[in-house]
Amino acid sequence: KAGLKYFGAATDSPGQRERAGLEAAYPRYDAILRDTNEFGQTTPTNGQKWLFTEPEQGVFNFTEGDIVASIAEENGQLLRCHALVWHSQLAPWVEETTWTPEALRGVIVEHVTRVMEHYKGQCYAWDVVNEALEEDGTYRESIFYQVLGDEYIKLAFKTAAEVEPDVKLYYNDYNLESPGPKADGVLRIVRMLQDEGIKVDGVGMQAHFRAHDAPTLDEQLAVMKSYAALGVEVAVTELDVRIQLPVNETSLAWQAEAYKNTAIACMRVRECVGITLWDFYDPFSWVPYVFEGEGAPLLWFEDFSKHPAYFSVIEAF
Ligand code: XIL
Repeated sequence: KAGLKYFGAATDSPGQRERAGLEAAYPRYDAILRDTNEFGQTTPTNGQKWLFTEPEQGVFNFTEGDIVASIAEENGQLLRCHALVWHSQLAPWVEETTWTPEALRGVIVEHVTRVMEHYKGQCYAWDVVNEALEEDGTYRESIFYQVLGDEYIKLAFKTAAEVEPDVKLYYNDYNLESPGPKADGVLRIVRMLQDEGIKVDGVGMQAHFRAHDAPTLDEQLAVMKSYAALGVEVAVTELDVRIQLPVNETSLAWQAEAYKNTAIACMRVRECVGITLWDFYDPFSWVPYVFEGEGAPLLWFEDFSKHPAYFSVIEAF
């Protein structure tokens, strides 16, 4: 396990990219995505989420996720699979029903089982539970938590381990990239699972940063080591570093520094297995849709020229 250091980029299936209105850019985009000198790993940004995989109860659809899985397979790239139990991009039927604990347990088991069975043998890792924590380290009041409390986390991991014993099972979240109450919450979740003898293999740090206040190298080293001290591996799973638009030389330099620090931190911590960008081409980033006035968070500009951060990452390796 030591020494596994991939550098990858998540991607959406073409149908999902259409909102960017840049079909003409696809061939060039795809060539970079599939270039194993650039990326040794990929993740579907959307296609494996509940909304797409089980839009109606018991009705499964793997079309979108399969597109990205086959890109990985064709190119010999690792696939990180994302995400099984998450409060967001959840199918409406899950949220709109009043569940008894027993019924919701059944829903979780069925979902985790069917989705993992479909992708069996194709994933290096699964994000089993995504974003269960609030900023203060308490649990988020998702439908899962409201009905089952922290039992839903145990159930999801336990089920996942039964379906595919040799895939890495991750807890994944954002704002875990420096020590603090939320990072403490992660330590608590990992220990809770371990204390019950439930398999947990990794902590995924999403790493959605802002160029001007990204975590420092020391903070990232400290927090990665704190997770690793529990005997799990870590990965940077959704790295992007957004900038207040329009970009200028200063903000691009901050961004380059932020990317470099993350790359150095992962290189230095033996248990950090790899880094995934949350896409690599600015126009396909989720950032402008969610954070008003911010953008240019990735390594390739719209015209396919490279950010200074591209070169700072290379330097770090
Ligand atoms: C984002 C996708 O990139 C967007 O296309 C989608 O509209 C919303 O979700 N944390 C996660 C990811 O775990 O799944 C999210 O991806 C970004 C935040």
